[in-house]
Amino acid sequence: MDTQQQLNANWLEAYWMPFTANRSFKKAPQIVTGAKGMYYHMNDGHKLLDGIAGLWCVNAGHGHPKIVEAIQKQAAQLDFASSFGFGHPLAFEYANRLTSITPEGLDHVFFTNSGSEATDTALKLALAYHHARGEGQRQRIIGRQRGYHGVGFGGLSAAGMGPHKKQFGMLLPGAAHMPHTHDPARNAFSLGQPTHGAEIADALEQMFQTYDPSTVAAVIVEPVAGSTGVLVPPVGYLERLREICTRYGILLIFDEVVTGFGRLGHPFAADRFNVTPDLIAIAKGMTNGAVPMGGVITSGQIHEALMGNAAQGAVEFSHGYTYSGHPLASAAALATLDVYLEEGIFAHAASIEPLWQERVHALTGLPGVVDIRNLGLLAGIELGTDVASGKAMAKKVYDYCFEQGVLIRPVANTIVLSPPLVISEQEIDTLFSAITAGLKAA
Ligand SMILES: Cc1ncc(COP(=O)(O)O)c(C=O)c1O
Repeated sequence: MDTQQQLNANWLEAYWMPFTANRSFKKAPQIVTGAKGMYYHMNDGHKLLDGIAGLWCVNAGHGHPKIVEAIQKQAAQLDFASSFGFGHPLAFEYANRLTSITPEGLDHVFFTNSGSEATDTALKLALAYHHARGEGQRQRIIGRQRGYHGVGFGGLSAAGMGPHKKQFGMLLPGAAHMPHTHDPARNAFSLGQPTHGAEIADALEQMFQTYDPSTVAAVIVEPVAGSTGVLVPPVGYLERLREICTRYGILLIFDEVVTGFGRLGHPFAADRFNVTPDLIAIAKGMTNGAVPMGGVITSGQIHEALMGNAAQGAVEFSHGYTYSGHPLASAAALATLDVYLEEGIFAHAASIEPLWQERVHALTGLPGVVDIRNLGLLAGIELGTDVASGKAMAKKVYDYCFEQGVLIRPVANTIVLSPPLVISEQEIDTLFSAITAGLKAA
């Protein structure tokens, strides 16, 4: 059966697609059958410039031959080995290589299979750390409005997106939320980091009137909030959060599932902002999206507290996944890291950022554009005077760009862009020419 026949044969029904309006999709399916470099190839021959790196993950472009080869070789060499009390070399090798590029002091890594598992693991590590030190009363987790930390019960509880939670009851009882940093009245159309709003971090300290700080285990934030429309932290905000957490003995978790691996022109957002958290959740760009993998990078202090306080022979952290450190994922991650470093991909992202910024802000003044936000190779273009009209417009621009062979992502009333970091000047031109025409047409 070819793909066209399959689409006609009720073949779409059995697969319940994630985060998808299934009934709408299945009326007008968009099916991708291949990808190479900056492009997707669709089942009907349509070619699409990928303006979103798959889903914030394919940082080195699709189908990189070195990554493909590493996965193929590893599948033939060792398909699977448990990591529970058993080991294989690539997971150790990758942990060593990865921690050679992490911020100073963050020198251990725990592997998961996704970003959701990474954030849940980071939260569990925070609780276990305090428990090991005899501060087991620290159980509260503080997230932020408009935060996204995946779909596990922990990450979802810490997240600040109401629509994602409404079907799932009470979630974790100990989660509370700081205000988000989006302040269009003062910061609309900022170039890079907005200048106003460092003081929004002080809301954390004000929350301690309600929740005693001695009961708070961790604060979790995305350094730049991605899924809620690219919200860039105001200058000085992350520094203040760090300072408050340190003062009260609270762990700071950066969810770098989107910002890790070069998205901001540095290995991690922590490097770009020069703010070091206690834990970093990672995934996506770790394997260039080629094999599912995630992880949590932790400080030596957290590692030592758990190692040092457990009885000899005891499991120090009762947590892990069948596929933690999977051989294929480890091989893909090692090859991906080689590609990032050998091909200077983070440096390329940094050097092309000024052009990216110039082109995205050139959309200012076009019909319906009410705000533009950017940092690194991320951008959010907010549309419409209200969410409903902006959402309808974003969908129209998506459809227009799709027809023109360009893939963008509408997230509610915002068009979100996060291309592979290898994007060229000419591809930036193609991307923004399509969006400009799409905005005029919409
Ligand atoms: C910041 C952030 N954290 C966590 C996740 C969850 O990752 P996954 O979908 O791999 O579980 C995402 C996914 O987009 C994300 O953007």
